[in-house]
Amino acid sequence: MPAATQSSEMYIGLMSGTSMDGADGVLVDFSGAQPVVLAAAHTPFPAPLREAFGALQQPGDDEIHREAMASNSLARVYADCVAALLRTADVPAGSVTAIGAHGQTIRHRPGQYDGIGYTRQSQHPALLAELADIDVVADFRSRDIAAGGQGAPLVPAVHAALFGAAGETRVVCNIGGISNISILPATNTGRPVTGFDCGPGNALLDDWNQRHCGTPYDDGGAWAASGKVDTALLAQMLAEPYFRAPPPKSTGRDLFHPGWLQTLLEPLDDRQPPAVDVQATLATLTATAIAQDVQRYAPHAQRLIVCGGGAHNAFVMATLAQLLPHVQVQTTADFGVPVSQVEAIAFAWLARQCVRRAFGNVPTVTGAAGPRVLGAIYPR
Ligand SMILES: Nc1ncnc2c1ncn2[C@@H]1O[C@H](COP(=O)(O)OP(=O)(O)O)[C@@H](O)[C@H]1O
Ligand SMILES: [Mg+2]
Repeated sequence: MPAATQSSEMYIGLMSGTSMDGADGVLVDFSGAQPVVLAAAHTPFPAPLREAFGALQQPGDDEIHREAMASNSLARVYADCVAALLRTADVPAGSVTAIGAHGQTIRHRPGQYDGIGYTRQSQHPALLAELADIDVVADFRSRDIAAGGQGAPLVPAVHAALFGAAGETRVVCNIGGISNISILPATNTGRPVTGFDCGPGNALLDDWNQRHCGTPYDDGGAWAASGKVDTALLAQMLAEPYFRAPPPKSTGRDLFHPGWLQTLLEPLDDRQPPAVDVQATLATLTATAIAQDVQRYAPHAQRLIVCGGGAHNAFVMATLAQLLPHVQVQTTADFGVPVSQVEAIAFAWLARQCVRRAFGNVPTVTGAAGPRVLGAIYPR
């Protein structure tokens, strides 16, 4: 047997973010000083599941039934992803301590209504435990929200562990459906890690691309790059109060959905910009929201390290570099971690924290009253 299979420090992380493209999974060995990824897999969502979760982002009829059916399907997607990981690494299910499964966010409303609000990550962890025969840890965000926090972002602790450095301030930026940054002060200063959601990442880009090109995303950002940025429209987009709100803050498709864009386009009547220019403007919005947060909250950052699928959008990456001339813009792949693995590694780590009854949130990020053990365990 390879040494890794004897370890009791193996965890699986499963992430399916607001892009709703599928599940990114990693099998991680935490027995060493740094986590080692033994296998990685991506299991795409079947089109009907993507549509079902898309519809569940907004209120609608018979939601409880539709959500339950979608969560059953998601458990099967997750179980396929787990099987692929175990096959690739040649590791038996019994060697894995737990799976950290994020679920699919269908509402994210922390702090609203009664001051606590709620978040919902749809999934069926009991079915996943049944199918995978491995303990499953789920519902990572609710406890932080119960403690007065945003429940998001939860990845900064792992960003800090993987990419923090002595002697320089770094910012790690995940561009998923929504974008978020972790500000990592030089580790020798002892200053706390902070972070928050910046705004739309790929979500609006994907929706617009699907509507006008019939493909799930703008490959490489080539379509956006062939358009012209509409500066008046960009200014209107940036007037959205979320961008000015002080952290801690988090957002989702609750706010940044196609209707949000529609309310800006509708008043233009017959002066609608060409679809390609809207795409260029949306891509510039993604980059600008991130860049202005870096300038505002990490003015001394020397390096911006990008992960998530948005790192494949060359137009967004080039715009970031242009807007931040004094910052070196790189991806996590430049540091040996593929861009699709970072968030999944974080959920493997969060599962391990829960199993060990160790804290998972960073209160300086989420605004929670204090550190908390995150997640609920569904035994195999
Ligand atoms: N080659 C590519 N070119 C442009 N964008 C891409 C490419 N590959 C992936 N993406 C973008 O990344 C998204 C998936 O990113 P991901 O990190 O999985 O986000 P999430 O965590 O929200 O699911 C896709 O929906 C797409 O917008
Ligand atoms: Mg994804």
